[in-house]
Amino acid sequence: MKTEFAPSLLAADFSKLKDQIQLIKDADYLHLDVMDGIYVPNITFGPGLIKVIKKHTDLPLDTHLMITKPERYIKDFAEAGSDILTVHLEATDHIHRVIQLIKAEGIKAGVSLNPATPIETLEYLLPELDQVLIMSVNPGFGGQSYIPQMTEKIAKLNKIIEANNYDCKIEVDGGIKTFNLKEIVEAGADIIVAGSAIFGAKKPAAALAEMRDI
Ligand code: DX5
Ligand code: ZN
Repeated sequence: MKTEFAPSLLAADFSKLKDQIQLIKDADYLHLDVMDGIYVPNITFGPGLIKVIKKHTDLPLDTHLMITKPERYIKDFAEAGSDILTVHLEATDHIHRVIQLIKAEGIKAGVSLNPATPIETLEYLLPELDQVLIMSVNPGFGGQSYIPQMTEKIAKLNKIIEANNYDCKIEVDGGIKTFNLKEIVEAGADIIVAGSAIFGAKKPAAALAEMRDI
């Protein structure tokens, strides 16, 4: 399977969002980090901004909800134009119900795991997921360092998905740069999220192309 790229808007220059989104039109998705200041110690944006972004890109919107009790907002984020909604397992008491809510909106559903959360927690959920997002940093901020143990976690999840023939992609998010990209893809990552490595670069389009070449 070809590796896909999802630049994270978090590292973009928000004073010229429309232009910034144009720069990465060759990506496969646009990754949108929603933070509520409770589940993670940072606040970003909500469905209002996503609705505006939707008007300026044809890329599928990959919305990463780092919010507590995401069940409260699934409809809002789906109606804003998200094509994929990923919620944190740790942020709700009823992850299976949340996945059902997302599917009922007719869009793709993903579950994200924090670095310390074992993949075994997904055993009974995997058949219903379109993607698992492995956090390779603690969620909340861009520009952090990749946690090395996550490579083994990706490989372990990849084995389970392959052994069972699940139709579920592995997305990896946090601290991915040109120097560690290869090991992450080789471990089994299908979708690479990169914020500072792409929008933090002088030429985001060239940075994306360079990652694709690797
Ligand atoms: C962190 C976010 C990431 C972040 C990645 O909580 O989920 O998507 O933007 O940024 P980098 O690539 O800079 O680690
Ligand atoms: Zn993210």
